[in-house]
Amino acid sequence: MSKIRIINYSKTIKKKSILKSINYTFESGNIYGLFGRNGSGKTMILRAIAGLIYPNEGHIEIDDKVLHKDIDFPPEIGVIIENTELLPQYSGYKNLKILANINKKVSDEEILTTLQQVGLSPYINLKVKEYSLGMKQRLSIAQAIFEKPRILLLDEPTNALDEESITSVRNLLLELKNQGCTILIASHNKEDLNILSDKIVKIVDGAIE
Ligand SMILES: Nc1ncnc2c1ncn2[C@@H]1O[C@H](COP(=O)(O)OP(=O)(O)OP(=O)(O)O)[C@@H](O)[C@H]1O
Ligand SMILES: [Mg+2]
Repeated sequence: MSKIRIINYSKTIKKKSILKSINYTFESGNIYGLFGRNGSGKTMILRAIAGLIYPNEGHIEIDDKVLHKDIDFPPEIGVIIENTELLPQYSGYKNLKILANINKKVSDEEILTTLQQVGLSPYINLKVKEYSLGMKQRLSIAQAIFEKPRILLLDEPTNALDEESITSVRNLLLELKNQGCTILIASHNKEDLNILSDKIVKIVDGAIE
């Protein structure tokens, strides 16, 4: 459904070259596993596609629309990038409800279904500040997928999840992929990458190998 083209993309921060002339196309209905050492640039690539950083050279096209020119952000995108902002004083349900009010695409029932899919049904009214680490991670996944995005950018999505949750999250991602979602997963978890990825993309020192 959504194709992402990275064209000759370079990013320098404080004279340090962070992303180096990246050229790559991510096709819809595929899961791409971004793999590479700490500091290699995986998170930066996700930030770039999410429209959160500006290139020094090159550009990114989402379905032939140029990011930062034709569009500010990719439409219909779900994101987990490092510390996803959750509102600690509210329940998981309320967090999703607040987000749902922005696009008004999903019903209360769909919110509850997503919470159930990520295993948060027993904790629907518990405030996020009382969540465990894995429960927060489950809610981060829920906020990324609950509107059935066309693009999903996931930075270490299974961090802190127990085995059962990992299995259900993997199944959810495969379901979204089959619906045509373009999914990028940055991970150090080789098992996740091997099970989920259609293609493994190796990032070395700010470049795609
Ligand atoms: N805000 C920032 N300012 C300057 N440099 C940064 C900033 N954030 C990250 N970097 C640098 O950008 C490079 C790529 O970082 P990035 O976070 O993309 O790595 P990563 O592959 O995601 O690593 P990890 O596996 O640890 O998550 C690193 O050299 C890092 O030091
Ligand atoms: Mg990272």
